[in-house]
Amino acid sequence: MREVAVVAAGMTRFGELWQSSLRDLWVDAALETLANARADHVDAIFVGNMSAGQFVGQEHLGPLLADQLGMRGTAAVRVESACASGGAALRAAFAEVASGLSDLVLASGVEKMTDSTDVTEVLASAADQELEVYHGVTFPGLYAMIARAHMHQYGTTEEDLAWVAVKNHRHGAKNPRAQFRREVTLDDVMGSSLVAEPLRLLHCSPVSDGAAAVLLCPLADAKRYTDRPVKIIGSGLATSAMALSDRANIADLDAVERSAQRAYKMSGVVPARMQVVELHDCFTIAEICCVEALGLVQRGQGGAAARSGCTALGGRFPVNTSGGLKAKGHPVGATGIAQVIEIFEQLRGEAGERQVEGAGIGMAQNMGGSGASSVVHIFARA
Ligand code: COA
Repeated sequence: MREVAVVAAGMTRFGELWQSSLRDLWVDAALETLANARADHVDAIFVGNMSAGQFVGQEHLGPLLADQLGMRGTAAVRVESACASGGAALRAAFAEVASGLSDLVLASGVEKMTDSTDVTEVLASAADQELEVYHGVTFPGLYAMIARAHMHQYGTTEEDLAWVAVKNHRHGAKNPRAQFRREVTLDDVMGSSLVAEPLRLLHCSPVSDGAAAVLLCPLADAKRYTDRPVKIIGSGLATSAMALSDRANIADLDAVERSAQRAYKMSGVVPARMQVVELHDCFTIAEICCVEALGLVQRGQGGAAARSGCTALGGRFPVNTSGGLKAKGHPVGATGIAQVIEIFEQLRGEAGERQVEGAGIGMAQNMGGSGASSVVHIFARA
């Protein structure tokens, strides 16, 4: 396998972007990425997208978007793994370059959610239809069950959940591309309206539009495109049972643990060496479960990690310095690539007010559905 580097990135602001269509968003992110690398072609394009067919009635994104970019004829294909589609697209692009199939590859993600009037139903199509959705369960409902299980097993409290939102909104306030650039207090979170008990409005990621892209090439060629490449040193993908009722312990997110173990093994890096982490906080409880499943803290300590500041900027493991899905926004197919961009910028020292001083190793973890799929990538300054 060849060593692979990320050499450029580009993304739109995340939010309710009424004036842009799906193709406008994607082309903006792709053009920004190519301009940053001064590249005028790519050999292949991977598009992470959860459900453009249901959200905006558009399937077959590979050829459509390659053409819109002025690259008709280029190898281009959509990659789908629900909310982990972006991370899965990065893994496909990584394999494409590592294997020698292509030399310059665009890994991207896009979602246009706000045009749909059925967002909750479309998102629910990533859960088990027969065992869950037919009975009326939504994603906030599934994560509420995970939250209750975590509270029951580990004594996690509603206040612990709320601290995750407070932290991620504080980080998001420092991110010019975030959907919500406002801080919230513990009282704001605890007093926000109930969505699915115990999860409230401010425990949820929002409905968002946005696109993101990164450019990959062999590490040996990276200096053609940038003087500060970032290496991909580990990649792990794993799955679990779709339905919560088929899992041994719903609070443990075993696909996240397995994907992380695979990425740690490939990279030779242990969790204690992580200096900056973007992870999948689609609901506050998801961040608590993920910091544990990634091995950053012990099982049951995820809530305490948020409360104590361990996972805040300045803490032992800064988590979701971008604001995370909670504050930066969650255009589902774009999320996994946007996480990579935050790590890319952190390792290059370009994260502005959110900069983690001296960060040299970072990780991005992107999850599909209620944790039925998970993708982890580990990065190092080259
Ligand atoms: N966090 C913070 N503020 C939010 C928010 C969120 N998640 N969602 C909406 N808001 C704000 C809006 O900006 C708006 O503020 P304003 O009145 O100042 O303009 C207000 O709350 C009402 O917004 P609205 O769009 O009417 O909210 P809603 O009730 O239709 O939707 C949720 C709220 C939580 C139901 C929706 O965001 C949601 O479904 N989130 C989960 C998405 C999801 O499941 N993703 C996949 C994860 S696996």
